[in-house]
This record gives sequence, C-alpha cells and structure tokens, in this order.
Amino acid sequence: MKRPGIVLIGFMGAGKTTIGRCLARALGAEFLDTDELIEEDTGKKIAEIFALEGEESFREMETRLLKKLGKRKQPFVLSAGGGMPVRKENRELLRSLGTVVYLEASKETIVKRVSGDCTRPLLQGEDLEKKVTDLMSLRERIYRETAHRIVQTDEKTQEELASVLADCGREV
Ligand code: S3P
Repeated sequence: MKRPGIVLIGFMGAGKTTIGRCLARALGAEFLDTDELIEEDTGKKIAEIFALEGEESFREMETRLLKKLGKRKQPFVLSAGGGMPVRKENRELLRSLGTVVYLEASKETIVKRVSGDCTRPLLQGEDLEKKVTDLMSLRERIYRETAHRIVQTDEKTQEELASVLADCGREV
C-alpha cells in the first residue's frame, strides 16, 4: 500500500523545516514538524523538556508521536527531529510513513547554520564544531540506512531543493 508521507530526516540545521514547508506548499500537502507537534502537545519548548524531564523522556515522546502519525491518511510532508532515526524502532516507523529523504549537509554548513542557536539543547556550551562532528559521525550511517533517497543540499537553493524533492512526492 502506498503511504501518504514524505519524511525529511537529517542533522539539526540541514534545512528539514524550511525545505519541508516549501515542498508541502508545492505539493499541496500538509506540513508537519515533529518538534512543533511535541511542543504543542506538551505546552513546553524542546529545551524545557530536555531540562525538566531529560532526553530519554523526549525520545519517548518522539516514538509515541510517530505511532500516532501512522494513522494519517492525507498527504503530508514531515520534518523529523534530527535525533529521531537513532532509535531502531523509530527507523522502522519513519519508513512506514512514506518516502524517507535524507537531507545531507556538510559539517561546515551545519556549523554555520546552527551557531548562535539556543533552542537545541544538544548543541549548547563550548566547542560547537566538536559537538557537531561527534554527533554527525554517530548518525551519518544511520541517516543513510534509514533513507530511501539522499539529497545533497549544500550547493542548492531552497527552490532547487523543493523541485528535486517534489519528484519524490510524485513517486509516493
Ligand atoms: C535533536 C534535533 C532537534 C530537536 C532536539 C534534538 C537531535 O530537531 O528534536 O533538539 O537530537 O538532533 P531539529 O533537527 O529539527 O533541529
């Protein structure tokens, strides 16, 4: 059975939310963002959830949300939080929602985009570049293995990316 979603995965700052919104508009599909849905559900910011309840509790929320999204019938574009595919259970859930696209970006691009950001708890404190390098080396293979398609984003404009990705939409 064809599934209704395009699921964007990738590192923090890869552009999942920005490109996802643009793609959803182009496809006439609903745009969903897992962090936003969790914030709406709990009435708390992601940083507060990490600080008050811990990362594990946030990861539980992510898995519960993916299970809920599996019930959707209408087309959607989903921007999945960067850590979502790390749990094996989530990888299967993500793939069951539709075409999973890994938005790949270089470490340099990521560091540029997330520097000064204070909303992402895993990137706070000293030595941002080391934090990005370490997390990326843990996750890169996971992103690749989870994805049906991989799209390199460094050299492309938002419009170019939305057009490449719209092809994924037509294949869904
Ligand atoms: C995280 C990525 C964030 C958010 C949380 C944890 C991660 O989402 O879910 O801060 O572990 O990579 P974005 O990828 O949308 O920034």
